[in-house]
Parts: sequence; C-alpha cells; structure tokens
Amino acid sequence: MDLLSIDPLQPDPDRISEAAARLRAGELVAFPTETVYGLGADATSAEAIGRIYAAKGRPPTNPLIVHAPDLEGARALARTWPVAAQQLAERFWPGPLTLVLPRASGLADEVSAGLGTVGIRVPAHPVAVALLAAAGRPVAAPSANLSTTLSPTTAEHVAAGLDAVDGLILDGGPTPVGIESTVVSLVDAPTLLRPGAISAGEIEQVVGPIVRPEGGTHDPREAAPSPGLMDRHYAPRATLLVFDDPAEAAEDVSKAAAEGRTTGALLRDPLKAELDHALPMPSEPREYARLLYASLHALDRVGAEVIWVEAAPDGEAWDAVRDRLRRASMR
Ligand code: TXA
Ligand code: MG
Repeated sequence: MDLLSIDPLQPDPDRISEAAARLRAGELVAFPTETVYGLGADATSAEAIGRIYAAKGRPPTNPLIVHAPDLEGARALARTWPVAAQQLAERFWPGPLTLVLPRASGLADEVSAGLGTVGIRVPAHPVAVALLAAAGRPVAAPSANLSTTLSPTTAEHVAAGLDAVDGLILDGGPTPVGIESTVVSLVDAPTLLRPGAISAGEIEQVVGPIVRPEGGTHDPREAAPSPGLMDRHYAPRATLLVFDDPAEAAEDVSKAAAEGRTTGALLRDPLKAELDHALPMPSEPREYARLLYASLHALDRVGAEVIWVEAAPDGEAWDAVRDRLRRASMR
C-alpha cells in the first residue's frame, strides 16, 4: 500500500482530497479512526466492497460497518430510525458506537453479508471525518487487518499486515482509543453485539436495559447475528495465555523457557519470572485498552512465541478488554 502521512488534528485538505478521489475511484484507503485504523471502500460499489473482503481474507458472511461524517449521513443509511437510535446517536456520536439497523437502499448488498441490516458509525477522528465528508458517499471500513488477526492502531501495523494489498494508507499516528467500537443492534430490542470502547452500562443509561448475550459461539457458515460474536479473533501470532494465578504462570514461563521458547508478557503487576519480553501495562482500563493491541503487535514483532497476560479485573469497565483477551487466547 502507498503511505501518505497526515496531521491527525488538522488534516491537510489536499491529502484528504487525494484519498477521497481514490475512494470514489473504487480503491481501498486505510485511515485512522479514534478506535483503530479502518480499511475503507465505497459502500455503494459491490466491486470496491469485494476488494475489502479479498484484502482481509474475510468470510463473506461477516458484514461491514458503514461510516458517515455526521448524523444526517448516518440516518440516510437506515430504513428505520427508532427513538433509541436518535438518543444513542445524540449521546455518543461522533464516537466509538456502531448501531445496527435495517438497511436503506443504495448500499452494495455485500456490505451486509446477506443480512437485511447495516452497522452504522460516525467516527470522531478528524482525519476520518474529513475523509468521509470529502468522499461524499458512505464508506465501509472494517478494521484494517487480516481477518482474525490483531487490529491495527498505527499505520505501521496496517502496512505490515496488508503489505501485498493495492491502496493507500493515511498515516495519522496512533489511534487514541485503541479498541474497537461497541456494536449495538436496534433491529429488535436493543442488544449488545460486541463490547467496546463504550460500556454496556453507559448505553443503558440512555436507553434502559439492553440484551447482553453471553459471548458464545456461532456457526460461521451461517450469517452470524454479529460475527463479532464468533470465536477466535483479534489474535497475535503467538499463543496467548490468560492467567489468574501468578505463581502458576511463573512456573509455566520457566517451563516454556526451558523448552527454548521465546516468552513475553503484558503485566499490570510484575511477575517473578525470567521473561524474554515483559511489557508493563496500565491498571486503568481505558489506558490499558489504548495500549493493548500495540503491545501485542510489539511482542509479535520481537518474535514472542508465548504471551502471558493477567486476567482482566472484574467489573464492566474491563468488559471490552476481557472480551478481546478471551478471543485472542482461543485456539
Ligand atoms: O471501531 C470500529 O468499529 C472499527 C473502525 C474502523 O470503525 N471497525 C471495526 O470493523 O471494528 P470490523 O469489521 O472489524 O468489526 C465490525 C463488527 C463485526 O463484529 C461485525 O460482525 C459487526 O461489527 N457488524 C457489522 N455489521 C453488522 C450487521 N449488519 N449486523 C450485525 N453485526 C454487524
Ligand atoms: Mg475487525
């Protein structure tokens, strides 16, 4: 992919125009959002959307999030706009919330992976907003990584994962939130499809109690209610082990080291073990989420073969991190 750097706070209009023109021409453009980098394509073009699925190796049953620059643009993507949508949009947009609603006409069918619905998001990153406004059409953008691998929080992560792909990367530096948007379906009763940067409790303060399915499995051969609920996902190359008991983990580290394996860890508290690569992690959940993927990418880069991570603490503030660790540790 071609790389174009851009100021994350005051994006240069010429660079935005170039990227927008490439989107309108059906090309792929990776861009920063406040959560993670997205791999964007014209959501009205089946051909452009096909390029996203091919580049990511994404199963055709996993639908894409469509991004709009503002509430008005977002509303036009949905066939119905319930009161809950308006309330959540007013409270959390622009920001890391995706609403799933019945889809309006005009979008490529492939965006919805055969479902009659569409995931809609108005991101808060200045580069994303400027690009979406300049593109003048809805932009589908999944995270800009190969399917099931770690999401990218820097342009370098995008380039490393998608090096063989044709397209442009707008490099606006590291993304400030670092973990994906919360996905809420409003097709029936409000339902949490993917925990994310905004907690379920924050959503409930606006619309009252929501359905929270237990993570769970879903047969990926069927169009999933949300393939965010599919199992292994967001995973580093290394084997990731989530532990509760530090003494046990320290023993396992010694065993792995004795077998000649390169060991790594992400740690809020020090572990009494001889790790090849130990990265300290913050004990505040938002800070932890911001650094999680970048830290796992870093351990992948130095060749860690096994990574130990403390189980996330109890409490809703850690739900998104707990969810990502669980999926990353599945095999
Ligand atoms: O923060 C984010 O949401 C990032 C940035 C780039 O916006 N995007 C992102 O996209 O994480 P992706 O494709 O990696 O994850 C989208 C999630 C998946 O779990 C997908 O199954 C779900 O949203 N989703 C999208 N459209 C859906 C729909 N119509 N019905 C149910 N789930 C949907
Ligand atoms: Mg993704």
